[in-house]
Amino acid sequence: PLPSSPHLLPHKPDSIQLTQEEMKRVAAYRAADMVGSGMVVGLGTGSTAAHFIDRLAELMLNGSLTGIIGIPTSLQTEKHAIKAGIPLSTLDSHPIVDISIDGADEVDPKYNLVKGRGGSLFREKMIEGASRKFVVIVDETKMVGCLGGSGLSVPVEIVPFSWNYTLLKIQKLFENEIGFSARLRVDQDNKPFKTDNENYIIEMFFEKGVSGDLNEVSDKLLRLTGVIEHGMFLNMATNVVMAKKDGSLVILN
Ligand code: 5RP
Repeated sequence: PLPSSPHLLPHKPDSIQLTQEEMKRVAAYRAADMVGSGMVVGLGTGSTAAHFIDRLAELMLNGSLTGIIGIPTSLQTEKHAIKAGIPLSTLDSHPIVDISIDGADEVDPKYNLVKGRGGSLFREKMIEGASRKFVVIVDETKMVGCLGGSGLSVPVEIVPFSWNYTLLKIQKLFENEIGFSARLRVDQDNKPFKTDNENYIIEMFFEKGVSGDLNEVSDKLLRLTGVIEHGMFLNMATNVVMAKKDGSLVILN
């Protein structure tokens, strides 16, 4: 097991490589140092963000941080934070968030992100968009040359009403994109996956990554009736904390 502050690990022999889980934890622990007492903190969703929530709770418990209020980005995170003893609130009561800390599925060279493979993209985008600082915590495997280029999906949250019609509209939007495909996300029982907002998710796949002006792609998607939000987080991250296999950290501003 790692010591409580793994980012302070002494030099590791070259032969020792961190696992992906250890890298996530190293990035999460470093980002927790960016939180100050009295802050309203957006709490991300996913396995990397879970390490951050544990560390935040630990720092609160040992008295290093006081007066923290968390705004959870999902029901899963809400449960975790309550269990960890972090006082929670909502964007309605705290519309300005001092700092949000969350993982990502992909980070491009301009720090644009793909998020939401865990299905929480809508709440994440609202809360992280309301944040003065949005710190993304990732391991080096999340860095990509181009969004969608890793062969994994770019998710889009849509209303369930006439979902197949919305899927067709999305397919039409990208009909000239070579290697594009899209499908409804399903759960283990092959039923439509439901988000915390009771919506559905369309998974978009771009064989060569999302091409062209990302803001234009975003606008086109958001103009489709039935589309709630998509998982491309453009120009939102203020910092990226990236942990590498050798245990080192890169902090990008
Ligand atoms: C959830 C997200 C997560 O931040 C993203 O999927 C990364 O997850 P993990 O930290 O488990 O790799 O966007 O909607």
